[in-house]
Amino acid sequence: MKNKFFSIILLSAVVISISAQTSPQLGKAPLKNVISAMTLEEKAALVVGARYRNPNSQNASNNQLPVSPVPLTQGAAGFTYAVPRLGIPPIVLADGPAGLRISPTRQNDNNTYYCTAFPVATLLASTWDSELATSVGKAMGNEVLEYGVDVILGPALNIHRNPLCGRNFEYFSEDPLITGKIAASMVNGIQSNGVGTSIKHFAANNAETNRMSLNTIVSERALREIYLKGFSIAVKESKPWTVMSSYNLINGVYASESNDLLTKILRNDWNYGGFVMTDWGGGKDPVAQMIAGNDLLMPGNASQSKTIVDAVNSGKLDVKILDKNVERILNIVLMSPKFRGYNYSNKPDLKAHALVTRQAADEGMVLLKNSGNALPLPEATKKIAAFGNTSYEIITGGTGSGDVNEAYSIALVEGLNNAGLTVNENLQSLYNSYLKSVKEGKPRGRGFMGASASIAEFAVNSDIAASMANVADAALITIGRNSGEGSDRKPEEGDFQLTASERELIRQVSDAFHAKNKKVVVVLNIGGVIETASWKEIPDAILLAWQAGQETGNSIADILCGKVNPSGKLASTFPVNYSDVSSAGNFPGKVTPQTQVTDSQNPGPRRQQSEVSYEEGIYVGYRYYTTFKIPVSYEFGYGLSYSTFGYSNLKLSSSKFGKSITVSVDIKNTGTVAGKEVAELYLGAPAGKLDKPERELKGFAKTTLLQPGEVQNISFMIDASALASFDTQSSSWIAEAGRYIVNVGASSADIRATGTFTLGSTMVVKKESKALACSVTFNELKLK
Ligand code: BGC
Repeated sequence: MKNKFFSIILLSAVVISISAQTSPQLGKAPLKNVISAMTLEEKAALVVGARYRNPNSQNASNNQLPVSPVPLTQGAAGFTYAVPRLGIPPIVLADGPAGLRISPTRQNDNNTYYCTAFPVATLLASTWDSELATSVGKAMGNEVLEYGVDVILGPALNIHRNPLCGRNFEYFSEDPLITGKIAASMVNGIQSNGVGTSIKHFAANNAETNRMSLNTIVSERALREIYLKGFSIAVKESKPWTVMSSYNLINGVYASESNDLLTKILRNDWNYGGFVMTDWGGGKDPVAQMIAGNDLLMPGNASQSKTIVDAVNSGKLDVKILDKNVERILNIVLMSPKFRGYNYSNKPDLKAHALVTRQAADEGMVLLKNSGNALPLPEATKKIAAFGNTSYEIITGGTGSGDVNEAYSIALVEGLNNAGLTVNENLQSLYNSYLKSVKEGKPRGRGFMGASASIAEFAVNSDIAASMANVADAALITIGRNSGEGSDRKPEEGDFQLTASERELIRQVSDAFHAKNKKVVVVLNIGGVIETASWKEIPDAILLAWQAGQETGNSIADILCGKVNPSGKLASTFPVNYSDVSSAGNFPGKVTPQTQVTDSQNPGPRRQQSEVSYEEGIYVGYRYYTTFKIPVSYEFGYGLSYSTFGYSNLKLSSSKFGKSITVSVDIKNTGTVAGKEVAELYLGAPAGKLDKPERELKGFAKTTLLQPGEVQNISFMIDASALASFDTQSSSWIAEAGRYIVNVGASSADIRATGTFTLGSTMVVKKESKALACSVTFNELKLK
């Protein structure tokens, strides 16, 4: 009996091996032969993620088809299906975007597998430095490669439509140009390692509430100019291997089921050549997803494959479409480290990457206020009183899939100590025991999605403040906020607004220190915009540190001590009031009364049918504030330096637009310390058939480190696409005849040099597919 059993095994092995020898092999035989050799079941398995088939997965026992033939990186978000007989390996997909997200520990293994927590995207955008974003990408991509991952699920490019989106920290900006440029630079850096990226969440995924069934009602113009633009730049300038479609619907159709979005726009208009995957569990109908061009369904389940097989058998899905989906996936598999048989080390150079993350953080922190040159701290300032819970428990990044498992994080007090400052120990122990007692009483229960419940600010009474003002040279107050995937932030106290105790803290400490003629610096350790207008007059200086990754404390200290001169600028506006935001009345959307049923397959609040109308149209962020003259607390593009810069000698290559115009300007360091300046070019287009915002960002450049007195000539190229707006009627980008105003400045409100040119006659710059039309009539904000 035993012998018979072994003979069968042996025979099967021989059959498999002969079949492997005779079957076309991926990479050796033409791709079309490999696809023809696949069974329908194998094709339907390949287009559906295989996490549930992995030996590590709980559901692995349900496997119908073989499990993965190779061990795959633990803690990755998903895998593709392997067909060993055709030489098709599985590829591994893991989150992003602030660093690689995998499990730091593995079963029966004493080694650790930590990744670098890089600064969040809001900070990276605030560097306005594409080269730096490329170096962050290079370092991040090296960890992807060396930990055996093939594609990182990032960067994330959704627009900061509203400051309360819970995932804004993962996204770059309210402006599509800086979003697209910084994302493309990151993708180029990551992919230079021979691994892939997945730019996400495509598209118009600007809120988390009911994210899996939120219908975004938006005009074609706002889509093209605001919500799709950054993606189109990234596709054009960096060729990401994959795109992740978003959970939401756009004008009534799930993004992952939208042929308009994934085929007409992404592939036909933009010539995209990679594959598209769903967000995890996104959309409903696998057949519609295949037809739309959403090639891979993640993380995948067996019923999706079955639905696809049945649809082909019943004629509902043309197998040619499925073959195309398969082909697109296999083209990327062919490029993957897994296919190349890359022998990954599991040992990326975390030390070198820590330097990269610190440098990026140094460059993206934004100095919002610096009265009386409170910063950098004078040499004589040695003793610091550090207030605020987050001075001791720094927030390095947001929660959810964007969280990274880093080996360590540097708290602010640690960073200050490292920089040679002394943090007042009495105050430190008061905070430490307070934080410990709160945590003991109330387990924080930080789930995967949820930001840990924030701990009420330690109440500093006037006695403590006064005694600290006696002994310390200066005070630091850190205000922290965290958020993440799955929910949005609130406009209230404790989130967008400061709490009463935070206000009290700022007031008490400032009164006590100012009475002794000592300075108070507020550090904002936040991932998204908060209210600042009502309290910003009180402290001497405000440093927006963002959530700056594992080296946050060191980077803050670099800037406070003047080792680094701040050069970050805001890539999203800080409004005066939340109600000033153009989408405040339409965020995060409303549950639609007639369909208040939850999806039976995916019950829960994230599935409640709801909708949101983007009534503000193209007037998002500074496009709104500048056009409608709404005062803000800190404008888009704003940020101080320890130096000052002069702009002069603005020149245009011509006063009449032909094919392009070059704008050049001299930037001089007029201060006394070396520093870098971000110069921003805004264009004001003539209103004609289409209304136009007051100004739109069309170029930016960061100088090198300029010594006092040093001048750098910066130039910007303006091509026809920079002049164009999207005309829905003709579905084309048109540049309208008339006078264009070139504004070069230090922020969207601080224009330092101006020029003009004219365009003789209206020009169609590019014709696009008619796509994503909105059938619902709603009032869109217009200037006239
Ligand atoms: C998130 C994606 C993420 C995916 C895989 C989803 O919940 O929206 O951004 O890449 O999970 O973890």
